[in-house]
Amino acid sequence: MTINTEDFVRLTSFIKQKYGIDLINKQQLVQSRLALYVKQSGYDNFTAFLDAAFADRSGVEVANIINRLTTNHTYFNRESQHFEHLVKYFLPKKEKENLSHQLCIWSAGCSYGNEPYNVAMFIDDYFGFRKPAWDCKILATDISLNALEKAKKGIYSASSIKELPEAWQKKYFTRLPDGNYQVVPKIRQEVVFRYHNLMEPIAFKKTFDLILCRNVMIYFDEPTREHLSQRFYDNMNHDSFLYIGHTEIISNNKFERVVPAIYRKP
Ligand SMILES: C[S@@+](CC[C@H](N)C(=O)[O-])C[C@H]1O[C@@H](n2cnc3c(N)ncnc32)[C@H](O)[C@@H]1O
Repeated sequence: MTINTEDFVRLTSFIKQKYGIDLINKQQLVQSRLALYVKQSGYDNFTAFLDAAFADRSGVEVANIINRLTTNHTYFNRESQHFEHLVKYFLPKKEKENLSHQLCIWSAGCSYGNEPYNVAMFIDDYFGFRKPAWDCKILATDISLNALEKAKKGIYSASSIKELPEAWQKKYFTRLPDGNYQVVPKIRQEVVFRYHNLMEPIAFKKTFDLILCRNVMIYFDEPTREHLSQRFYDNMNHDSFLYIGHTEIISNNKFERVVPAIYRKP
């Protein structure tokens, strides 16, 4: 089943406007990720499927499309320089200066949860027996409901936890009867997963000490990235940090660029 130009344009324009994801040059990818689903949903062409999807006020069909079109690739210890900054600079500094003993961290575009759980593990490992004195909240958000559902369970294959040190595999995972591994409750309970579309205003109660938005903005165009970096800025505390993917750039000059892919709000 092929998608014609008119349907491709109306779908990709909608996705770009609502979610920021730019798929304009990805006709083949859009077609291959959706064709089988369109057929299984009982339609023999994209036009009828999209008519029904856009008419569905519940938003369920659009959510199904998003589940198929987002790229959720992620893994533990991805771009480990950020975690080095976290344990060698960010946490020691906050431990020294932050008398409230509260930290608010946001993994924006968390996919299957590897990133926020990884942060929770580093925090646990860093504080050790001092951890009970700290209230470290990690918010993890995404637009893919599939990814969020998987993330909440915190279950990963043996091969996907291989990147973590062996001691951590033992300390932070429980082996399940089917051979997969589940993140232990003490780490799972540190992370709250929520649906949030980064194109929409940020209306969380707290402001953040650290935001990780890595390998998400790569799918956004420049104006979208700049609007988003401004919204991040407005929702960050004084002396807080933003980690972005190493292939990504923002040109918001209110941030101080610490090293590539790490920005500080003064
Ligand atoms: C490649 S994954 C990155 C996961 C993780 N941050 C990492 O670096 O490994 C990109 C994630 O961004 C999410 N995403 C894309 N557009 C988004 C939007 N408008 N709002 C929230 N999340 C979005 C996707 O659903 C996907 O799970």
